[in-house]
Amino acid sequence: MDYLKIFSPATVANVSCGFDSMGFAVDDIGDEMTFTKTKEKGVKITNITGADLTYNVDKNAASAVVKKMLLEANANFGIELTIHKGFSPGSGLGSSAASAAGAAFGANQLLGNKYSELELTKFAMFGEEVACGSAIADNVAAAIYGGFVLVRSYQPLEIVKLPVPTALRVVAIHPQIEVKTKDAREVLPKEIPLKNAIIQWANVGGLVSGLFTNDYTLISNSLVDLVAEPARKNLIPHFDNVKNSALNAGALGAGISGSGPTIFALCKGDEIAQKVYKNINETYQKTGIDFELFISKVNPEGMKIIYKQ
Ligand code: HSE
Repeated sequence: MDYLKIFSPATVANVSCGFDSMGFAVDDIGDEMTFTKTKEKGVKITNITGADLTYNVDKNAASAVVKKMLLEANANFGIELTIHKGFSPGSGLGSSAASAAGAAFGANQLLGNKYSELELTKFAMFGEEVACGSAIADNVAAAIYGGFVLVRSYQPLEIVKLPVPTALRVVAIHPQIEVKTKDAREVLPKEIPLKNAIIQWANVGGLVSGLFTNDYTLISNSLVDLVAEPARKNLIPHFDNVKNSALNAGALGAGISGSGPTIFALCKGDEIAQKVYKNINETYQKTGIDFELFISKVNPEGMKIIYKQ
């Protein structure tokens, strides 16, 4: 294979209760990337569209990952990359993760599938570190594995792929403001009271169990965040109004997508998802702040190959 075009999905990290340890992939929003094998060794970015990102190969999350992989694999070829961003950096939908994970997946195809999904996640985490200073796994693992994932352990890295109940839909609103992950991590509490920790880890167990058993009530009851949401919601204009309008329309739960400002709502079925979409739309139109709003299925497979030759 000498050429590859892929789709790398946007992702919702944390999923309310699972700060830094849970995430899921979105179906309709993501980046398209191409990978062309070159005789000349090394990596080069030839085109970036959809966002203003650096072409510096050591500072761009995608090229930094490809460079590391080619070096570690001792490859006798190079790769030229193009990146089309399908959604904005700083949205909380795993923009740098889509680039980093897409890069790991694409380079691996040209390397003859040398690396496992777990190894690709580690390479992609390096891209996250390049992009935002923290080697977080929740977004990149969700993009690579697809569906829902649990980062059961960081050291050693252990990723558990979780099932996706088929009626699950996500409605997400991206207010057109940027929240940097670094800033959103700085407002987090350094310690949490034991009584809140108990509620939080019980909810992670509840959410995982609900996904396995298709128990939408259990999923709904478990979508509670006492760790990041109380500290971060002040960075997102009208967060409470959006959350309430989603819940009033029948959403199973709503919370901050990753580090924000995107707010996600999980819903059972298309009909409720449409009602949630409509309610959030009406709520946010009154604020005067520009926004994007979408409905998607949860993407069970993660990366997609669009074309190869
Ligand atoms: N889990 C991360 C956070 C996701 O919430 O900070 C952002 O990369």
